[in-house]
Amino acid sequence: MIVLERKGDFVLKKFVLASLIVVCFFLLHAGNTFAATESRISGQDRYKTAVEVSKKTFPKGTGTVVLARGDEFADALTSTPLAYKVNGPILLTKPNAIPDSTMAEISRLQVKNIILVGGTKAISQEVEQQLIEKGIQVERISGSDRVSTSLKIAEYLNPSHHDIYAVNQSKFPDALVIAPYAAKRNIPIILLSDSTITRADVQKYLDNVSNTFIIGGTKVVGAKVEKNVPKPIRISGASRYETATVIANRYFKGKTDMLVVTGKDFADALTGSVMAAKRDVPIILVSQDKVDNSVKSFVKKQKVNKYTIIGGKKAVDPSISKKLYSPIINKKSETLRLVTKNTYLSKNYVPKNLVVPNVRFSTTVSERKHMVKEAGTALEKLFRAANNDGIILYAQSGYRSYNTQRYLYNNYVSRYGQKEANRFSAKPGQSEHQTGLAMDVTSKGVGFQLVERFGETKEGKWVANNAAKYGFIISYPKGKERLTGYMYEPWHIRYVGVEHAVFMDKYDLTLEQYLSEY
Ligand code: DAL
Ligand code: ZN
Repeated sequence: MIVLERKGDFVLKKFVLASLIVVCFFLLHAGNTFAATESRISGQDRYKTAVEVSKKTFPKGTGTVVLARGDEFADALTSTPLAYKVNGPILLTKPNAIPDSTMAEISRLQVKNIILVGGTKAISQEVEQQLIEKGIQVERISGSDRVSTSLKIAEYLNPSHHDIYAVNQSKFPDALVIAPYAAKRNIPIILLSDSTITRADVQKYLDNVSNTFIIGGTKVVGAKVEKNVPKPIRISGASRYETATVIANRYFKGKTDMLVVTGKDFADALTGSVMAAKRDVPIILVSQDKVDNSVKSFVKKQKVNKYTIIGGKKAVDPSISKKLYSPIINKKSETLRLVTKNTYLSKNYVPKNLVVPNVRFSTTVSERKHMVKEAGTALEKLFRAANNDGIILYAQSGYRSYNTQRYLYNNYVSRYGQKEANRFSAKPGQSEHQTGLAMDVTSKGVGFQLVERFGETKEGKWVANNAAKYGFIISYPKGKERLTGYMYEPWHIRYVGVEHAVFMDKYDLTLEQYLSEY
């Protein structure tokens, strides 16, 4: 498998320099299936990715290009409003040489003007000369460093209002996610330090500013800085991922389209900001193969049905397509509490709200009839639905205290030996039954036993096909023995809630897989 993928990668690299793939995914969303269109734009490196983005954004060419260095984020991102204003893409160059792919795109676009952003250290005199020799008119916007370049770009933008977006001068995510909206409104992005403002040039520029929208938390633009800017308004979330969705929620209400880029590196994302601005869609950040809950909420709330990933599969994993539309997981929820051979409950753990559900029991032991109220109500619904289909189920074993489990486990060990007992019985503290969320169900046909054969009966099949609809999963499915550590137990159902159960069922995930991957 790994070898195959490597070979694929190699072939891809050798013959296809850049790719644009459009895929239509059928996804599960709040119990319904719907289609989302995914595209991916990626090149072999950041320079080629920028070219691909440019091709998609300016298919017919354009008069002006903004050229920025590709090895730093600051000049490219602060020049997004500039590129938007001149209606051109941002292309990237190395400080001392223009990559061939960038040059080829400049030719394709039939560019007449190029705005170089940054001083001669960022883009050398030789690069400038090379462009002039091609008959292109070259203009340079530069300051002595990235901060002063951001001020020079701001002057060039010459906005009619005096608002600015202030971001940390050495962190790219906040600049990246505000860039599309800043571009649309012709609002400069100014770079500030994280702790204090000591620079005279920044101070002077700020004198004429009306509102300062600070992007990011106090760690990136500190409280001291906030005190020293005109009318500060902070826009931030708990993480870079959340800050991106705060911006998306604030400025892109009702949009059903978005760009998705990695929040870990700026390389691929640098030039997507112009595309996002032109499409009037937000930039959403993901972390390689993880999607923040705030992103899931945004996608769900806005009914996002189309998105473009910028970057290769190493930057944004293909599994993102499922993860964007997966349920929001509250890691602190008791309903989703993971109990396995490696994750224990304490001796004293007793769930709240234990009740006896109104179902048929095959046990007479009172403790085992109990379940957490929410799970018990769901079990009643499941049993009623089964009944309506002519399926008669019996509940055999629900809540079991730590001590009960210890008694059971020790009994099994003395009867079958420890190795065998470990295949079907949890040690005390390791049983889902102690959560009050699990119930063993059985039928008359198997003599009310808890046996693998139950899975072959019409009752067992009904449970396998319908449990998820009522919020239950089969915790120890066939084929996942190595993962769960237990033999196949078609009788052991565990409540997690409908949305999660349906998702896990559809994608064939154990709770442990679900919680670690999603
Ligand atoms: N039979 C399951 C693994 C338990 O003992 O909890
Ligand atoms: Zn069980």
